[in-house]
Amino acid sequence: MTRRVLGIYREAEHSPGMAAADKAILDAVLERLAEMGFSVVKLAPARVGEVEPRAFDLVLAMCKNHHTLQQLAVFEREGVPVVNSTLAIRNCCRDLVDAGLSRQGVPIPRGKLVRTVAATDWHQVAELGLERGVFVKPADPEALASYAVTKVQEITALRQVLSTLAEKGVRQAYVQQAVQGTEVKFYGVARGLYFATVPDLSEAAPTQGRALAIAAAQAAQILGLEVWGGDAVITGAGFWIIDFNAWPSFAPVREAAARAIARRCAALVEHGKHRLADAKNIG
Ligand SMILES: Nc1ncnc2c1ncn2[C@@H]1O[C@H](COP(=O)(O)OP(=O)(O)OP(=O)(O)O)[C@@H](O)[C@H]1O
Ligand SMILES: [Mg+2]
Repeated sequence: MTRRVLGIYREAEHSPGMAAADKAILDAVLERLAEMGFSVVKLAPARVGEVEPRAFDLVLAMCKNHHTLQQLAVFEREGVPVVNSTLAIRNCCRDLVDAGLSRQGVPIPRGKLVRTVAATDWHQVAELGLERGVFVKPADPEALASYAVTKVQEITALRQVLSTLAEKGVRQAYVQQAVQGTEVKFYGVARGLYFATVPDLSEAAPTQGRALAIAAAQAAQILGLEVWGGDAVITGAGFWIIDFNAWPSFAPVREAAARAIARRCAALVEHGKHRLADAKNIG
């Protein structure tokens, strides 16, 4: 019997400047799956409600909107694996992710979740060492990717950034201590099927590269992610993970990553949903 896979693209508002690259990775994975004999259906997130969950053996989801995730939870209730799971996607929002990972020992710079309006605990924020710089990151689940991350070094600028976010309707921000070093992007697929950093660290910082691979895979497992990526800062002695995302664009490593993701998807369909990464709600 032909296996059916449903691919759901990311919403345009969650792909500022990245729409083509985000679409390209999903298309590349679905192409590999079609070559493996899967029947493929592609949908914009707004149309998820139009299809019958039980018509599919697997869903590949790049979407982030709360309403679409609720619709995808219906697929999960019907026993259809969704990659990444709705819970894992939700876990990646900044209101949960940093606290969840640091509690588990993943090296994340110190940070505080604050309200953008009133009642900000300035004492707690001051503990982060404003003079060394902090990055202010929108942290509502529905905050759009276009609300950029901003670096500030003193309290007036911090207040100004928070108030601008509040004016845009963002209620929470994650204020994260700035760390110094060389920034890399990393990309991975569950069960060690794929890991890469850009630039490659095997010559420049092999010890940090290996440790980052282990920590990132551990973080993905905690969050319940099958397909993931992020940003890290490599220091002389170690590294920091500063950003962790469900299903990034994989742009610089698209073909190799697409093959690994397709292999993982085929294994999930073949061996059943019990093999899906186990997402815990980290809130
Ligand atoms: N704690 C930090 N220390 C140093 N640089 C940082 C830190 N946090 C963020 N940055 C810088 O700001 C950039 C954007 O931050 P971040 O990756 O968290 O957000 P983003 O990429 O806009 O979010 P997303 O990847 O979810 O779209 C990083 O690539 C990095 O250059
Ligand atoms: Mg980033």
